[in-house]
Amino acid sequence: MTVSVDVTEDVPALVASAAALFAEDAGSHDPRMDLGWPDREGAPYYQDLVADDEALCLLAHADGVAAGHLIGRLLPVSPLRPDAVRAVLESMRVAAECRRRGVGEALVSAFVSWARKRGANELAVQAYAANEGALAFYRAQGFRPFEVRLAREA
Ligand SMILES: CC(C)(COP(=O)(O)OP(=O)(O)OC[C@H]1O[C@@H](n2cnc3c(N)ncnc32)[C@H](O)[C@@H]1OP(=O)(O)O)[C@@H](O)C(=O)NCCC(=O)NCCS
Repeated sequence: MTVSVDVTEDVPALVASAAALFAEDAGSHDPRMDLGWPDREGAPYYQDLVADDEALCLLAHADGVAAGHLIGRLLPVSPLRPDAVRAVLESMRVAAECRRRGVGEALVSAFVSWARKRGANELAVQAYAANEGALAFYRAQGFRPFEVRLAREA
């Protein structure tokens, strides 16, 4: 399998992959998530993101076919942590039939290069605590727990 990872302007492919991520990940981990949002609002949102200089929109192709996406963003420096230049991995997904073949790793590697070039010295990502596959993947990419967000019913 040949994998390529490119900065994208293909907004429909980005919307489709983001919608599939909502359905699979939030759909099984967050009953309060609005799963219709990508179809309703995704096109203008991702269009703006593709044009945003502080954001990174990647599409992966495996043997020429769309195989996943990654969205990254450079955050403003917080006055409370002036030495931290943080880039956040906001969203990523690999198509089910392409998993465990290094596509996710290729996407993260391109994100790390982009973030370093932009001066980031810290990378962050968030995942549902029950998404064990994603957590194992991020650990394999060098991420470690830093803060833990807890929630309960009111
Ligand atoms: C998480 C995800 C992006 C990983 O993509 P991928 O292309 O399958 O990952 P890679 O093939 O690059 O995996 C690299 C390494 O990460 C680890 N890894 C990846 N997926 C894993 C899983 N499900 N369970 C345990 N370890 C995993 C392994 O160490 C793997 O190396 P190996 O295959 O040689 O053992 C993909 O499974 C996915 O899209 N999941 C559904 C959407 C999702 O959860 N996105 C993240 C939301 S926060």
